[in-house]
Amino acid sequence: MALVSMNELLPKAKAGKYAVGQFNMNNLEFAQAITQAGMELNAPFIFGVSEGALKYMGIEYTVALAEASAKKSGLPIALHLDHGSSFDVAMKCIRAGFSSVMFDGSHHSYEDNIRLTKEIVKAAHAMGVSVEGELGTIGGTEDDISVAEENANLAKPEEAIRFYEETGVDALAIAVGTAHGMYAGVPKIHYDIIEQVARAIPISLVLHGGSGVPDQMLIDAIKAGVTKINVNTENQVAGTQAIRDVLNKDAKVYDPRKYLTPARNAMVEVVKSKIILFGTSNKS
Ligand code: G3H
Ligand code: ZN
Repeated sequence: MALVSMNELLPKAKAGKYAVGQFNMNNLEFAQAITQAGMELNAPFIFGVSEGALKYMGIEYTVALAEASAKKSGLPIALHLDHGSSFDVAMKCIRAGFSSVMFDGSHHSYEDNIRLTKEIVKAAHAMGVSVEGELGTIGGTEDDISVAEENANLAKPEEAIRFYEETGVDALAIAVGTAHGMYAGVPKIHYDIIEQVARAIPISLVLHGGSGVPDQMLIDAIKAGVTKINVNTENQVAGTQAIRDVLNKDAKVYDPRKYLTPARNAMVEVVKSKIILFGTSNKS
């Protein structure tokens, strides 16, 4: 099966009141683990690729890995640029074979965010590619992007509604209290913002910073109207811990397969648990 746009996945999730997982792909083992989990549970999913991961893997390898996953699994899989920073990066990804892009204009003024997102939507839609926008600022750290807690701003419902109407995005990430990376305490999710926006606009709402959020809070976020949840750090933590365990047990290990296999297995378990929690099993 070829890669699909998020529009093949998210409207069904909104109608069915479940969420599709965006699992970030950082290398071959991530691609394999996420695909295996999806295959075991017959679940659609989205590969998120940040600009940092793109730089690490190279765009040709990235697209080839995602296409191989779609071909091997027969599942509907979207390959999505995560937190894209410019029109040029988005177009480069689309030309290379991405089926979806995010433009994160949250560091721009509200009006500039609308203007820049709109340009990307126009070009992406002409090529059948879906677009996610972002409103408000999500705290924490992902790749080289860090937003201090005091600079994280919640999205305003009326601004989110106008943002959708003016840009025509297919999905909208709204800052509602989650953050990138693991949490020191428990995040405070503003379900009222999710409910208000989800009721007012027909597109998908995206929850970034899904790692480390207690299960019940994610269930409540889906109930409030979230239909895409992003998870990256939890896979990184689980994979790296598995590698550490192997190397701590035996300092003589040098074959990467000896520590990458447990890392991959650990990530399969993380992704499976999220798919079950998000209600995406058997939704392919
Ligand atoms: O865009 C990616 C996600 O928002 C990652 O969030 O750091 O909680 O896994 P996470
Ligand atoms: Zn994010």
